[in-house]
Amino acid sequence: MTARLEFPETFLWGGATAANQIEGAYDEGGKGLSTSDLARYRPDVVNGADNFTFEVTGAELDAADAGELEGIFAKRWGIDFYHRYREDIALFAEMGFTTFRMSIAWPRIYPTGLEDEPNEEGLAFYDRVFDELLAHGIQPVVTMSHYEMPLELTRRFNGWLSRECIAPFEKFARTVLTRYRDKVRYWLTFNELNMNLTSVYTGAGVLMDRTDRPVREVAYQATHHQFLASALAVKAAREILPAGAVIGAMINRIEVYPATPKPADVLQAMREDQTNFFYPDVAVRGRYPGYALRYFHDAGLNIEFAETDQQILADGTVDYIGISYYMSHLTEDRPGAQDETGLLVGALKNPHLTLTQWGWPVDPVGLRISLNRLWDRYQVPIFVVENGLGAEEAPGPDGIIHDQYRIDYLREHLIQIGEAIRDGVDVMGYTAWGPIDLISCGTSQMSKRYGFIHVDQDNYGQGTLRRSRKDSFGWYRDVIASRGASL
Ligand code: BG6
Repeated sequence: MTARLEFPETFLWGGATAANQIEGAYDEGGKGLSTSDLARYRPDVVNGADNFTFEVTGAELDAADAGELEGIFAKRWGIDFYHRYREDIALFAEMGFTTFRMSIAWPRIYPTGLEDEPNEEGLAFYDRVFDELLAHGIQPVVTMSHYEMPLELTRRFNGWLSRECIAPFEKFARTVLTRYRDKVRYWLTFNELNMNLTSVYTGAGVLMDRTDRPVREVAYQATHHQFLASALAVKAAREILPAGAVIGAMINRIEVYPATPKPADVLQAMREDQTNFFYPDVAVRGRYPGYALRYFHDAGLNIEFAETDQQILADGTVDYIGISYYMSHLTEDRPGAQDETGLLVGALKNPHLTLTQWGWPVDPVGLRISLNRLWDRYQVPIFVVENGLGAEEAPGPDGIIHDQYRIDYLREHLIQIGEAIRDGVDVMGYTAWGPIDLISCGTSQMSKRYGFIHVDQDNYGQGTLRRSRKDSFGWYRDVIASRGASL
């Protein structure tokens, strides 16, 4: 497909990562244990089965405390960004990045979440990273919490199921906002709040065998507490950050299609869509929508609200929406369909779409539709802060990875973003997921690679960690240099 696109001069170009998937050094620099340090490598998940669900039990946490938990925990070593960030940032700069999305590991700053004073060594690490980025003209986009939290908050309170996590998070948010106010202009509170529906441990640090409540109720209760924490962080940002800085909320946007034009199928698609819009509805509008309250009632979910909550939500509405976008979803009206809502990969296959090696439907046009619908609904800027292709790959005889499939994937998605901009949507920028190979969130596999930059490391942490450029590296550099005209 040929297209002459030119993205706005202000459009931000870069890549996106998360602390627990790149940093490693899980017990260095005064860092406390994180929930993600217990995420196991799951070699079984390939070819269509990847639904992102990952849970830890209280019994496993006890075994970990006793030093008896078996498994491979790749997020503990990441790709050693903690020690190699200078080299990695230099490579991002070579591609022409103007922005880089990363997260702060909360337990690097407050090792258990409960200390009165932050860990200076942790704060100093992020100072060095931000300074390095800014020296290369790269604006950091910082997610305060990307699928991790101090493990102690899980041990003590069962994670976000408890309101007790809100105050430690607000303290953490105020600490990092104050410390980095002159270095970071773009903030996000939580990564993909909607994914609590697929894993209450990954998103909210909840152990299901330590509660009697049903899993959907747990997911929404934890989300309610995260909504409050997010709103309090937004309020703090308004007090602390200089003019021009912005703070947003983020969701994993999954475009939902009805399987047929049958009205009942269309209605089911609308309901699933509302399940996805629910999060920006609360974050942008500052109140719970009626359809959510009806769902809680009909499904018998007892979500506890305090009297002051409504005001907190109303006072902490966001400036923009961040989305990750990987796929669309097909649904139909049948018993149990609503219970599957929120899963990444649904039961129905869209015959018009191909699948990635991990079974994720590839749908670039769905991204244009999503951007238009989000814009029409909220009229706030949208930042595509994740999108990318995970693939198993190996260097060719010349030692280089020829990832034309990744180039094709990214090109098609970027073209659709360009189209959405021409439709009038205010898109702030694009950060491709995993600009450098990193540990997979859902499976802790190293072999699910997303990068423009290859990292020589296997699923067991073996390898030289040498970084090398794939074909997509030069391609992305040209796209950025031409502001999309080369697409
Ligand atoms: C997003 C997450 O949903 O998907 C990332 O925010 C994650 O953390 C990405 O890495 C891709 O998922 P996976 O399981 O392939 O790493």
